[in-house]
Formats: sequence, structure tokens, C-alpha cells
Amino acid sequence: MVARILPAADPAALAEAVAALRAGKLVAMPTETVYGLAADATNARAVARIYEAKGRPRFNPVIVHIASLEAARHVAIFTAEAERLAAAFWPGPLTLVLPLSTASSIADLTTAGLPSVAVRLPWHPAARALLSAFGRPLAAPSANRSGHVSATTAAHVAADLGDAVALILDAGPAPLGLESTIVGLAGEAPALLRPGAIARAEIEAALGQRLADAGTDDGAPLAPGMLRSHYAPAARVRLEATDVRPGEALLAFGPPPASAANAVAVVNLSQVGDLLEAAANLFAALRTLDGKTETIAVMPIPETGIGEAINDRLRRAAAPRDA
Ligand code: TXA
Ligand code: MG
Repeated sequence: MVARILPAADPAALAEAVAALRAGKLVAMPTETVYGLAADATNARAVARIYEAKGRPRFNPVIVHIASLEAARHVAIFTAEAERLAAAFWPGPLTLVLPLSTASSIADLTTAGLPSVAVRLPWHPAARALLSAFGRPLAAPSANRSGHVSATTAAHVAADLGDAVALILDAGPAPLGLESTIVGLAGEAPALLRPGAIARAEIEAALGQRLADAGTDDGAPLAPGMLRSHYAPAARVRLEATDVRPGEALLAFGPPPASAANAVAVVNLSQVGDLLEAAANLFAALRTLDGKTETIAVMPIPETGIGEAINDRLRRAAAPRDA
């Protein structure tokens, strides 16, 4: 059966989404970063459906989305650093990993049993409307099959998850296109657990200190899509490509090389070399080129600003798949 896709701005669709969530079902929710696969974060059976639908390992906890800072305080313990970052970036594409409040009603499965919780207050009007109307925290990972490229349109969600989701709220392409930045404040020093839509330097400026690095640890993915292979298309991905080899598709950034004429397909993330535009196009571009070729050659992308997050996703897309 095919998924139901309804316009997020339609009040009847919103009411239907709330009813589905109350019944413990899954709803795909637009956010400014990527589409989320939402369930009632306080309902363990509903959250279990997320893991099932995504084929997600149970040790990988899910982000809790809330409608207000006040709601976040019921879920997590806010340190001074957390207050500062929330004031600077919420609502917005920042996720904070904080100590879980003992008074929280979040299901254990949502946090994978950890003493910490990832919380995020999105700015997207469709996400805000759903969170407010539902009135409870929503557990929502990206709405893609586990390990696959994240979904930035309703059609991507439908292609990955089909009728495992009761309803897809469609608000068009996700405006930022890259997941939230995740900052860990539950450990010793503030750490960048996942680079994302807000650049490291902006967060460091707001915090007044440097962020530690989380690194990659396949054994205990304390942090995020921090599994080395993630965000992966079926095709192989060749990074730092300055030419196109026979049979390859090209993911370009800026003016393409002459050998682009030989590519089986070309998508340019940003003709003018704009990193924000490239971030917004990244996941859709990988999906477009996938299936047209066995190898996607990716031109170099600068590591500055949001480029760190783009390169993070591309490195994971290029990583060996056996992990
Ligand atoms: O932009 C986003 O963050 C999107 C939208 C839907 O909000 N969500 C998203 O969720 O990217 P997901 O599940 O694909 O990635 C969130 C990552 C997970 O890989 C998980 O490991 C990490 O956040 N995470 C969640 N809770 C955590 C915790 N308590 N400690 C460390 N990492 C945590
Ligand atoms: Mg994800």
C-alpha cells in the first residue's frame, strides 16, 4: 500500500496527524532540517514502531522534539551552557544532549535507556503546529531507512517508509536540507556530537569556548549517525574527485571539470559554490544520482562553516558498508 501524503498547512490534515499520534501511530513531520518520523515520545509501543519502520538498532536513541523551552525543562536538566545555547539558537536546528530529568515521562526506549536525552525545538511552522496541537514531546529521527540518505521531501519519505507511516505531512522540500547540529552537554566538556545546520564556529561563539570532538566509535555510538557508514546511497561514493572516470556520475560543486561531459549524470550542488545552497540540495542529489551509476564522484567541498557538516555526511556516505 502507498503512503498517505497530505498538505501540512491543511487543518484537517493536522487534526488527522494528531489523532494518529494519540493512537500510537507514526507521522512524518516536516522540519527545517529534514523530515522526521514522529511518534509520541512518552509511548514506548509507539516509539518501538519507529525502530521497526526504520530498521534502526535499538541502541541508537531518538531526538525528542518539544514545542517550547518550558516543555524542554520537563524533559531535561538545563545546565548554564544549555541555557545559553537555547537562548541563542532555539527555535532552530540545534539539538542539545542533556541529563534526562527524573521527572520526565519520556519512554526508556526513546533514550535507549541512557541517562541523557537529546532535545530539539524546531522553527519550521509545520513542526511547531504539530507539536503544539499534540501537546506532548515527539520522538523523531530522520524519516529514512536506517543508514540511508535522509529524507528532505515527502516523496523521499514515501519511497523509504511506505505505509509504515500512517500519514506524511507535506510542506515541500526541507529548507535547510541537513540535520541539526548536536551538542553534548551531559559529559565533561561541551562536545560537537554531530556537525549540522549550525556551524561549529557559531556555537563556539555563543558558548564562549571551543567544542570537543566526539569522533567515530562504531562499538558504542554514544553519538549520532556517528556510525561510520551512514547517510549512504546504494552507489559507491568517491570523494575529492577532480575528474570523472568512465561510468561515473558527478556530484559537482561550483564549475565542473571538462571531463564532466563524460559523466552518466551530473547534479550540481551549487553552481556558484554557495555552501548553504549545497546543503539544501545534498540528500536529494544523492538520491537522484543513485541508481544511475555504480559510483558517484564528488568534487571537493570546503570544510568551512556548514561545509564541515556536508563533508561529514559525504565521508559517511563513502565509508565501507560492512560497519
Ligand atoms: O535535524 C534533525 O536532527 C532531524 C530532525 C527530524 O529533527 N533528526 C535527526 O534524528 O537527524 P536522527 O535520529 O536521524 O539523528 C539523531 C542522532 C542519532 O543518531 C542519535 O544517536 C543521537 O542523535 N542521539 C539521540 N539521543 C542521544 C543521546 N542521549 N546521546 C547522544 N546522542 C544521541
Ligand atoms: Mg538520521
